[in-house]
Amino acid sequence: MTDNNPEWIGDFCLETAPSPAVIILFGAGGDLACRKLFPSLYQLFRAKLLHRDFQIACCLRSAEGFREKVRAALPENGPDLREAFLDLLVPVCGNYRQAGFFSDLRNYLQELDRRPGSCRCNRLFYLAVPPDACAGVVASLHAAGLLEESGPGSPWSHVVLEKPFGKDLVSSLELDKRLHQYLREEQIFRIDHYLGKETVQNIAMLRFANSIFEPLWNRHYIDHIQITMAEDLGVEHRAGYYEESGLLRDMFQNHMLAMLSLAAMEMPETFSADAVREEQRKVIDAIRRYTPEDWSANIVRAQYAAGNGMAGYREEPGVARDSMTETYAAARLFIDNDRWQGVPFYIRSGKRLAARQSEIAIVFKQITHSVFAPVRAEDIAGDTLVMHVQPEEGMDLTIQAKHPGPRLCMGPMTLHFHYSELAKKTEVTEAYARLLLDAMLGDSTLFMRSDLITSGWELFTPVLQIWAKEPERIPLRFYPAGSDGPAEGAALLFRDNREWRRLEP
Ligand code: BG6
Repeated sequence: MTDNNPEWIGDFCLETAPSPAVIILFGAGGDLACRKLFPSLYQLFRAKLLHRDFQIACCLRSAEGFREKVRAALPENGPDLREAFLDLLVPVCGNYRQAGFFSDLRNYLQELDRRPGSCRCNRLFYLAVPPDACAGVVASLHAAGLLEESGPGSPWSHVVLEKPFGKDLVSSLELDKRLHQYLREEQIFRIDHYLGKETVQNIAMLRFANSIFEPLWNRHYIDHIQITMAEDLGVEHRAGYYEESGLLRDMFQNHMLAMLSLAAMEMPETFSADAVREEQRKVIDAIRRYTPEDWSANIVRAQYAAGNGMAGYREEPGVARDSMTETYAAARLFIDNDRWQGVPFYIRSGKRLAARQSEIAIVFKQITHSVFAPVRAEDIAGDTLVMHVQPEEGMDLTIQAKHPGPRLCMGPMTLHFHYSELAKKTEVTEAYARLLLDAMLGDSTLFMRSDLITSGWELFTPVLQIWAKEPERIPLRFYPAGSDGPAEGAALLFRDNREWRRLEP
């Protein structure tokens, strides 16, 4: 099978399919692997992007019941290739926190390489492991000689890392330093799965492949931008992680900034990894750095309390009864550059809100003069372009239009576009499928570069410091589970005579 055989391109519009590789999945028995990684790899397999020369080495403690567990995680719709896919999985059992594990792994990989006719020397290491284990695994892979690359054209070794990348500025710089002891930046793929979502990728196409939006994409026409990532679920079984992390680290520092930066960046010279990420970094760097007084007025933190028949965060298993961890945050940010001067970016995210709804809403300015007297210009709402990320991916443009009928009645009308209506034959591409593929192809456009992460931590670390050292400056608020969030979150916009878009259950 050649790498460029168009038959292998499947349903993805790509120039090349990845060369055969071994995917070495650390944490293969964990939650992320079952919920996202195996279904995504299966999607690639069914789209003929992972052919039978691939092997997935699954690092886990014990292989008992593993095949059945993975089978149960694979979707049943569409052509059933589950058994063929499961045949690609090879359990490699042991404890990756112990050095002996890596000599077993090396022996296994070397044996694969020696098999006649197989070219399995390309390696994608996927580290779905707790954050404190990442640097250690990379160091052990290096010590076992598994990260070596001998130059262009020779087999590659790429490492995919899951967030969080540190827990503040200092720890992220430290992690970065350790990773760079063993890896070149081009070998590191820091995943932010939001960047794999169709709508998020579409932001750049919408802006830069159309001539009708970009001329309006600035402070002259845009009143404000709202970015929402609302979840109806609570902390579920992740209290151990979440108690340490909280919402700011879990969502704001990564997914939120990734979406904001794509929506607000300048046009890159090309859609190449470095050009795009350079523009993203510039825009994150340009977000106004607030003083502690400014932060008090521009960020809200809150935690869900019991409500609508649901338990409060402090009642969840594994959560401290007096936990101060925030499950909601909302902020009002400004980007200090010519394009965005004076345009507020309101961002909010929370667990146990009224709906699962993630979106970027661009709210255009109102008209300045109305010819439709007695309707006044200030009574006519600005147009709104909403890029929906969750639960359905797509776009809505709400404009003012004439209602049908003999009278001159005007009101908002919405033009809809949903990806689910477009997706041919199979399902909409899983975000992780897109990203796994790119990591194998060595395309890091949709991955976080280390300076983007640093810039994000520079922005938010002062908030974490205020919460730790002067908590009364930004008190923890509470909101009923299943609601739209705390009143203080709404007030961030009210005082500017604006309001959040509704969360629609
Ligand atoms: C993860 C966060 O990165 O994103 C979770 O750690 C969150 O807390 C999840 O629930 C949301 O992802 P999605 O794709 O379900 O919106």
